[in-house]
Amino acid sequence: MNHEPYKLIPEDFSPVPSLDGTGPELHFVDGFGTLDAIGVLVPSEGDVPAAVGLHRETLESAGFDGKPGTTLQLANASGTLVVAVGGGKPGSLDSDGWRKAAAALVRATQKHSRIGFELSDTAGMDAERLGQVLAEGVLLARYNYDTLKSKAKGTPLAEVQFLAPGVDTAAAERGVTTGRVKVRATTIARDLCNAPPSHLTAAGLASAAKELGERFGFGVEEFDKQQLIDLRCGGLLGVNAGSAQEPRMIKLTYQPEGSPTGHLGLVGKGIMYDSGGVSLKPSDPMHLLMKMDMGGAAAVLAVFTALRDLGCKASVSGFLMCTDNMPSGSAYKLGDVLTTRSGLTIEVKNTDAEGRLVMCDALTLAVEDGVDGIVDIATLTGAALMSLGQLTAPVFGNDQRLVDLVLESGGRADEQLWQLPLERAYRPQLDSDVADISNLGGPYAGSTTAALFLAEFVGETPWAHIDIAGTMQSDKDDAWRSKGATGFGARLLIDLALGYSAE
Ligand code: BES
Ligand code: MG
Ligand code: ZN
Repeated sequence: MNHEPYKLIPEDFSPVPSLDGTGPELHFVDGFGTLDAIGVLVPSEGDVPAAVGLHRETLESAGFDGKPGTTLQLANASGTLVVAVGGGKPGSLDSDGWRKAAAALVRATQKHSRIGFELSDTAGMDAERLGQVLAEGVLLARYNYDTLKSKAKGTPLAEVQFLAPGVDTAAAERGVTTGRVKVRATTIARDLCNAPPSHLTAAGLASAAKELGERFGFGVEEFDKQQLIDLRCGGLLGVNAGSAQEPRMIKLTYQPEGSPTGHLGLVGKGIMYDSGGVSLKPSDPMHLLMKMDMGGAAAVLAVFTALRDLGCKASVSGFLMCTDNMPSGSAYKLGDVLTTRSGLTIEVKNTDAEGRLVMCDALTLAVEDGVDGIVDIATLTGAALMSLGQLTAPVFGNDQRLVDLVLESGGRADEQLWQLPLERAYRPQLDSDVADISNLGGPYAGSTTAALFLAEFVGETPWAHIDIAGTMQSDKDDAWRSKGATGFGARLLIDLALGYSAE
């Protein structure tokens, strides 16, 4: 008899299932075709659009006041569901508001596949921008990770028609195309984060990156364990010591046509699963999420899938530092001293502070590459979640110009950031008796001491650090965020790369 070995991972498992389909059609139209549901923007005051067929008093008595983000489903005799979509004060919706309105509509029509959206009061919006944010809202809110379910949960969206009187349709459709590319990238990041930890190893992520590189026009170099030893990446290798899986560094390169406006370095934390290592995490439901500890690496990889299609004019290099963090007989221990690529030695005081250990080698390599600026993104500290919650990510940096660029990109993407001070006075908390630095700060300001650690490895190169431990994941469906991995950082870093130039 032939015995098949047990395989946890199905052979046909795709780490980015969302790329399999083509996605719904999105169009700006002069009149609606056949639809299952129609959303109508209803402001909080003034006339109710005729398509709703009800007076304001009736809507109000049903509890609908037109506030942004709210919806009311109205069954009617024709069979087409009508949804009142709150628009706030007439003409008040900005990019974020329109993105949220589109998201609210597709959530209120979860069982419908052909949807219309009648807009009004769009005069204050640039048509291209309007098309982009509507596409983002619709597609991001309808995201579902159901590749491992026997039966898909949601009804797939086939088509959305936007009826927007007075809007330049050609410009709006250009915006839709841009929005689609950004959503495709975000969706790749979400899929990678939602994948179960044993389904997506460091080597598996490298294979996925290679496929994406061929498809979307960027270079991918994979560094295996021996090559990392040759590169003296002692941080990444130290964290990997307890794992049955090999580590990988994945280097991504994008070159624009013509002479580049600058060279941007992006670094992502790729901890495929963070058990804490020997400093084992307690069995808390939150730690179920540690499969997403590669959210930074996923966001950086996602960015590269958009650069060619959106005509990025800067060169971009990406470094993804990938391994899981596991306890075992071969694991690194508290008190161990790691020698990093920079030459700096690190005393390990907590094996759960592993993110900074893998990131530091990448920061050194990015500096060696001669980039004009570095932005790193990492699910680095629980303190980021504690201080700013799931909606806002702290950003730190050594260069206010670069931090400001990052903040502005976050604003445009509606990926909220808040700058925290890189308080140098806390740096002595990282002192070590036996090595150059330790990987553990004091009990307070954990996100800051983690950032101070990273700052040691960038020298004078302009650098910004985004801690997405809080924002990588959402507990609930909320506007463009769908429950589960959010893909946070992908759209903001795409925006940054598209506008990037050396000083
Ligand atoms: N991956 C975690 C941070 C994290 C926590 C991400 C919650 C997402 C949600 C990181 O590796 C970690 O364990 N950090 C420690 C650092 C501490 C030991 C200094 C933390 O924040 O507790
Ligand atoms: Mg950890
Ligand atoms: Zn971690």
